[in-house]
Order: sequence, then C-alpha cells, then structure tokens
Amino acid sequence: VRRRVVVVGSINRDVVAEVDRMPVPGETVLARRVRHNLGGKGSNQAVAAARAGAPVSLIARLGERDAAPDRLREALRAAGVDVTGIGTAAGVETGTAFVTTAAGRNQIVVDPAANLVWAEPPPADLIRGTVAVCQAEIPMWVNEAVGAAGPARLVVNAAPATPIPESLLLHCDPLVVNEHELGVVADTDVAGQISPAETATIAQRLIDRGLPGVVVTLGAAGAIYGTATGLFRQAAPDVPVVDSTGAGDAFVGSLAARLAAGASSADAVRWAVAAASLSVGHPGTHAAYPTAAEVDRFLDRAPAAVPL
Ligand code: RIB
Ligand code: NA
Repeated sequence: VRRRVVVVGSINRDVVAEVDRMPVPGETVLARRVRHNLGGKGSNQAVAAARAGAPVSLIARLGERDAAPDRLREALRAAGVDVTGIGTAAGVETGTAFVTTAAGRNQIVVDPAANLVWAEPPPADLIRGTVAVCQAEIPMWVNEAVGAAGPARLVVNAAPATPIPESLLLHCDPLVVNEHELGVVADTDVAGQISPAETATIAQRLIDRGLPGVVVTLGAAGAIYGTATGLFRQAAPDVPVVDSTGAGDAFVGSLAARLAAGASSADAVRWAVAAASLSVGHPGTHAAYPTAAEVDRFLDRAPAAVPL
C-alpha cells in the first residue's frame, strides 16, 4: 500500500549568514552574504518527502504576528505540501532560526515562537494509517499525541537533541538520530565523539529495550540502522560539501517517503543516505533537496548495506 506522509513539526524563517569562519565568543565577523529562507525541521522534512514523490501533509503553527504568513503557506503548497493543517498561534511571531554557515558547516540558534503554541493536539483522524513524522522543535506532548493517534508507522527525529519519553520511544519505527542525539536519547554518558563501535552498541541496546527500529546518521560516513533482525551499516557516496544545513531533514523526509511507498527499511535507508548526500552539494535546505529521479540516478553511488 501507498500511504500518506504526515509531518507534525516546526516552520521557521531562516536567516542564514554565510561567513568565512565562525566567530569565537566575543568576536564580530562580517557576513559574505545573507539569505532569507523558509526552514524549520518540520517544513524541511515535508518538502523533502514531497520531492521524493510522497503525498504529504504538514501540521504546524505559524505566528499571528507574521508579516506574510500567506507567502509561507504558498511556498510550501508550491513545493507539493498539503498546508490545510497549518494553524495560526495567537499573539506570537512565526519561529525564526539564526543560521551561520562556514565551510559547509553550520551553527543554529532557534526562536521557536509559534512552534511551541498548540491549543490542542493534531486530530487523530489525520494521523491514523499514515507514516507520521515528528521532531523536537514542537512540544513533546504533541509528539506523544501523534504516537497515540495510531499512525501505521511513526518516524521520530530527536532533533534538536532531546530525551524521548519511554511510551513514545517504544513506538519509533524508526527513531532517527545523529551520534550526539543518540547519546542524549539513550542517556549515555559519552564524553566527546562516540566511536562507530559504541554507536552500534547503544543502538543495539535500544533495540533490546523494545524499540522497533533505530537509524543513526553519521554524516559523510552514512548511517547505521537496526531492527529486531540485526544491525546494518549503509555507506554514503563521497560528495563535495557546500552546505550541510538541513541534510538531516532531507534524510528524514525521504526516508518517510520511501517507507510510505512500501520500501523495506534497507531500501529506505539507502535512498535517504543518497538524498541527504545530494542535498549537501547545494546551499540552503528546500532548494537543495533532490527529486526522486535525481536520487534514482545517484543511487548506485551508495553501495548496498552490510551487516554489522
Ligand atoms: O535542520 C535545519 C533546520 O533547523 C533549519 O531550517 C532551521 O530552521 C532549524 O530548525
Ligand atoms: Na544543503
């Protein structure tokens, strides 16, 4: 069966400053260029899923004080996203993300604003039977309501890094995290960089605890994913990095789209690694996300996963 992807999450106005190098505390640097983009992890993931060919709805909040909310809605609609589930939060601005990029890397500060103002959870009938996707830029109680509404499959991206309540964790199929987020979710006291071996051990521990699936994204090193049948390593193609902002969202959105189309976990992870790799080759988020045809042509650059 082909299912709908429903992303419940954030919309931000991204103010992106490109600099030659990140300022250190107390320092001022001049930007080479500043761009204003539509972003937010929820909206990015919805657009990535639409590019991958899935029917997708975004349930989110814009601020009543936004100067041009209709333009944001229209941009999402033009990207192929159903926007009828986007509501307005009273008395607040739309979320804003202050993004600084240098040499392909980024630092982000988010003012969540409207993203935290939910009067009620999303209606259960919009979630039931779908591939539902959520992240951590909206209140966790909203995500818990999404899990309880009976999606066919629940993809939880614990970004920005946050602990996930046990009742929600046990529904994640899969949980998608980077190495840092994995440490926070698993409440593991890891100092600095987690080694690939440690990553696999922690992922296995989550599976043993009853989590249906877990994917750990490793940037240029691809991803590790696990289910009850085992742990696998998916390598990434070698690509030049222009801007990795929103690459994690490209991964999550395209993963959900492939799962919604009935792909196996292995196929969906391989596809998502290829899509995220393509997205880092271009500046920005939405504008950088590849179409299904582009990923398809690129797929043989990502060799099949190997068991760990
Ligand atoms: O993941 C990238 C996104 O994080 C940006 O678009 C920004 O809005 C922040 O939410
Ligand atoms: Na990019």
